[in-house]
Amino acid sequence: MKIIVIGATGTIGSAVAEALEARHEVVRASRRGPVRVDMTDTASIDALFSQVGQVDAVVCCAASGGLTPLDTHSDADFWGSGLEGKLIGQVNLVRRALTHVRDGGSVTLTSGRFVEPVPGSSLGYLVNSGLEAFVHAAAIEMPRGVRLNTVSPGWVRETLLELGMNPVTGTPAADVARVFVDAVEGPAHGRTLLVNAS
Ligand SMILES: NC(=O)c1ccc[n+]([C@@H]2O[C@H](COP(=O)([O-])OP(=O)(O)OC[C@H]3O[C@@H](n4cnc5c(N)ncnc54)[C@H](OP(=O)(O)O)[C@@H]3O)[C@@H](O)[C@H]2O)c1
Repeated sequence: MKIIVIGATGTIGSAVAEALEARHEVVRASRRGPVRVDMTDTASIDALFSQVGQVDAVVCCAASGGLTPLDTHSDADFWGSGLEGKLIGQVNLVRRALTHVRDGGSVTLTSGRFVEPVPGSSLGYLVNSGLEAFVHAAAIEMPRGVRLNTVSPGWVRETLLELGMNPVTGTPAADVARVFVDAVEGPAHGRTLLVNAS
């Protein structure tokens, strides 16, 4: 299969690209990657598909929003990349994929989850639950057997280490990547695929 992985320079995306490359042709994309795309810019998503052409699958692990306190003063700072890149960007990606993914192919998004709310997590909850609801409902409109799913990781071990936090409850990125591979190669459609912490 020919597969675009967006966010392929990131913690999860690089593990996903590596896992898929064992059996498939992978195009690694991100804002500064070998192939360029900015999820906050629909023209850039269009340009990505014009450059790469028809594909069998698209996987997006890009454009995380950080923790954002509810009392953040500026609207732009509050909504930030969580809304523009992760939520609206991934919805726009699905809309473009309708015409650029081959029959029987797939689109896999990334949502995510917290064990419980922490200060600054409300936007993340909104974005992740919005994406999961979108995937559930949009699946019935996908044409030509194209499947649509989202993967919902909890904390990734490498991310916890990077943040100087206790990594013990995190899932290794390579294990998270296996769930993305299942989404691409398996039969799932309209689902939120949970990654269990090991
Ligand atoms: N890591 C975790 O513990 C964890 C847990 C739950 C959910 N998640 C979710 O998983 C996804 C990936 O997380 P991650 O930890 O792998 O992130 P990461 O290490 O920060 O990597 C993000 C990737 O996305 C690219 N990117 C960022 N903004 C972009 C944009 N506007 N357009 C295109 N590419 C963009 C980055 O490359 P460039 O800078 O080159 O663009 C990079 O390749 C996010 O949605 C995150 O919320 C992560």
